[in-house]
Amino acid sequence: MSAPEIDRALRRAEEEYLARNPRSREQSERAAAVLPGGTTRTTTFFPPFAPVLESGSGCGIVDLDGNRRVDFLNNYTSLILGHAHPDVLAAAWAAAARGTAFSSPTEQEVRLAEMMAGRVASVEQIRFTNSGTEATMAALRLARAFTGRPLTARFEGSYHGTHDYSAAPAAGVPARIGDLVVTLPYNDISGCEAVLAENAGSLAAVMVEPVLGAGGVVAADRDFLDFLREAAGRMGFLLVFDEIVTFRLHQGGAQAVHGIRPDLTTFGKIIGGGFPIGAVGGRKDVMALLHPTEGSISWGGTFNGNPVSAAAGIVTLESLTADAIYDLNEKGEWLAAQLNGVLEKNQAPARVTGAGSLFNIHATAEEITDSRPVRRADPRLGKLIHLGLMNRGFFLASRGMACLSTAMTQADLDGLVEAVEDLTAELDGG
Ligand SMILES: Cc1ncc(COP(=O)(O)O)c(C=O)c1O
Repeated sequence: MSAPEIDRALRRAEEEYLARNPRSREQSERAAAVLPGGTTRTTTFFPPFAPVLESGSGCGIVDLDGNRRVDFLNNYTSLILGHAHPDVLAAAWAAAARGTAFSSPTEQEVRLAEMMAGRVASVEQIRFTNSGTEATMAALRLARAFTGRPLTARFEGSYHGTHDYSAAPAAGVPARIGDLVVTLPYNDISGCEAVLAENAGSLAAVMVEPVLGAGGVVAADRDFLDFLREAAGRMGFLLVFDEIVTFRLHQGGAQAVHGIRPDLTTFGKIIGGGFPIGAVGGRKDVMALLHPTEGSISWGGTFNGNPVSAAAGIVTLESLTADAIYDLNEKGEWLAAQLNGVLEKNQAPARVTGAGSLFNIHATAEEITDSRPVRRADPRLGKLIHLGLMNRGFFLASRGMACLSTAMTQADLDGLVEAVEDLTAELDGG
């Protein structure tokens, strides 16, 4: 599979994509006049343009040109039951019919908080936000206030949303904020030891995704997470698990899979059943800082704990029984193994990483235990795989990230395996 072969196949795939999506192209050009780059989310954009979607039902999505694709992205892992699930719609509609937002609490937010505290062992109390970004921002502020320390740490290749302490160093983020953010190597205990020791006494929190999501669906080793738990106790910083993506892996989150109790956990995506939401939860003594009269942190949010999102989240969590999650994870692991088998058979320089119902196709044959090989992947082959799958009726993130929903059937999974087979066999033959 030579570079010229990949280039030729990519050109064909791009031409086919343009031919199949004229209306999306037109709409994207129109959008570019009023939205920078024609999009509202940098993360969903890919060149030449993303398909403009009209509807979604179950695992299927339909764009303006009438192309139907199996949605293996599910709004970046948040629609675990698929699109427009009838029970979720009914709950959201019933809540909305009683009023879409109030400047006072509702029963729904309490019920959702109780469900989450009942499922996640480390969560004693919860504060809802509107997004995962706000949840991680709140977790870091809580940690700084609780410890009285200024620094927070996150991992190479991590993504915790768009706020300054997650994005630094970045354009528009003052260097002084960047100085307060420490970067640690993922899955590397001795590398972490050294950086943690340098910052001992100043570190308020280490925030970690139990599976790097945007960094390539790379699972943390249990030893590594155990080490972080032990180091947090020894050095006096709070351990924060960002489970915004990984909460789908177990009723108790990835922390239950590993038997680790973080001090704080952030949530989002599936807990809103497809509607906007986020949450930070954890130790009662830390969360007490958010108490409106006795705590020191004032944290509002016009739509926090929105009753429509909460109602949709409750129904979603109710249907996520231990068996349902187990089944989805099994299917995800089966799919990742099948895809790796096909890539190997066709000698494609690509591989699939995964954790339960999450997976990522990478355009590299390197072993992946952190995000460095992910960044070294071949961008042309990556783009070819992405567009090739779009043309064959499968929707994944342009960087190859994907996940399952309970709406998928075995035929949908088989279809993706066949599409990857077709795509890579074509390349193999030149
Ligand atoms: C692990 C993780 N943390 C935080 C966020 C930010 O969440 P939101 O996009 O809801 O702000 C994301 C979003 O993809 C995420 O994957």
